[in-house]
Amino acid sequence: MYDHIPAYPGDPILSLFQDFQRDAHPSKVNLSIGLYYDDAGRIPVLGSTRIAADRVREADAPHTYLPMEGLAAYRQGLQRLVFGADCAALAEGRIATLQTLGGSGALRLGAEFVKRYFPDSAIWISDPTWDNHRVIFSAAGLDVHTYPYYDAQTNGVRVDAMLAAFDALPARSVVLLQPCCHNPTGIDLTRDTWRDVIDVCQRRGLIPFLDMAYQGFGDGLAEDAWAVRAMTDAGLPVIVSNSFSKNFSLYGERVGGLSVVCASASASATVLSQLQAGVRRTYSSPPLFGAQLVATVLNDDTLRAQWENEVAGVRERIKRMRGALKTRLDAQLPGRAFDALVTQRGMFSYTGIGAADVDRLRTEHGVYLLRSGRMCIAGLNDANVDHVAASIAAVLGGAGH
Ligand code: LMR
Repeated sequence: MYDHIPAYPGDPILSLFQDFQRDAHPSKVNLSIGLYYDDAGRIPVLGSTRIAADRVREADAPHTYLPMEGLAAYRQGLQRLVFGADCAALAEGRIATLQTLGGSGALRLGAEFVKRYFPDSAIWISDPTWDNHRVIFSAAGLDVHTYPYYDAQTNGVRVDAMLAAFDALPARSVVLLQPCCHNPTGIDLTRDTWRDVIDVCQRRGLIPFLDMAYQGFGDGLAEDAWAVRAMTDAGLPVIVSNSFSKNFSLYGERVGGLSVVCASASASATVLSQLQAGVRRTYSSPPLFGAQLVATVLNDDTLRAQWENEVAGVRERIKRMRGALKTRLDAQLPGRAFDALVTQRGMFSYTGIGAADVDRLRTEHGVYLLRSGRMCIAGLNDANVDHVAASIAAVLGGAGH
């Protein structure tokens, strides 16, 4: 009966992670998937979430169903973190937010929402973007196009080409943007460019879909959400997917959210009801434990301050490792510019290392990057950075670069 089904070739990011876990190389380093490792090379359990977990366990409450939209305290904490406690749209009850299965679940529910209520709209994603963006939006039946983004010559953004592309879109087109820590390039829009994007979205009647998976890993929790808040304050009909996988180090708990900014409280109630219907027909209701952890931390002043410190520590460590790698590469490969390593933001860096060299890094040195040349800087630490730099120097130097 099932013989006609072709095998799934696997996901480029997740398959590589499995290969890494199986690899017996003694000094292997995982710089592929977006996981934050601490300086000891471990995926951390944050102190704030550990205390929250103790509290949840002590409360010993029944493991009942959450409502379709998720835990109320989680949704409120999420809204304040993403939109800011002083957000006018929040005070006016104009933001429909529901708890989702990570950022990916938010993208999928958002994609289905767009497909159902804007059937003639297509979505534009940056060139390049996270591989799974295209997969998720196509699976929901949307036409997916790209807009110009990365400029390999300048290691910056093709701002004029991007804005011109937006300016030519039909009304109600959806544009997917990343407010901070762009995956995979690490290159973000400046605030001036965001203002231009806001302008063109207003002029053309576009729907900005903001995917924020790394809040706090760039310049700060509020700073990284600046674009979300500016677009909301400008009155745009913003859709936001956000994830706590990275900034709470709660990957497997699937903690994310989808928010839709509406023009009125009644529109927001209606939109929320349809998002609830989307949940019911997909998985009924979201999981409890991760939401309890995040809600406990976000709604307790002391735990929240502790968590903010922990996120600041992560951010600083990533920046320090960017500098450490650059210093070593500058010394070993003089003449090649590695400045982008320290100007890019967040977990990822687009290194410009070609696929063949990426393969050599993996097979000869146990150093795992994505074949696009994307490196997860958050996998570097003081113990492995020398090996990584020497491996890159051996591969690039040897290849005659
Ligand atoms: C990544 O881009 O590596 C992360 O977002 C993890 C994933 O699911 O791909």
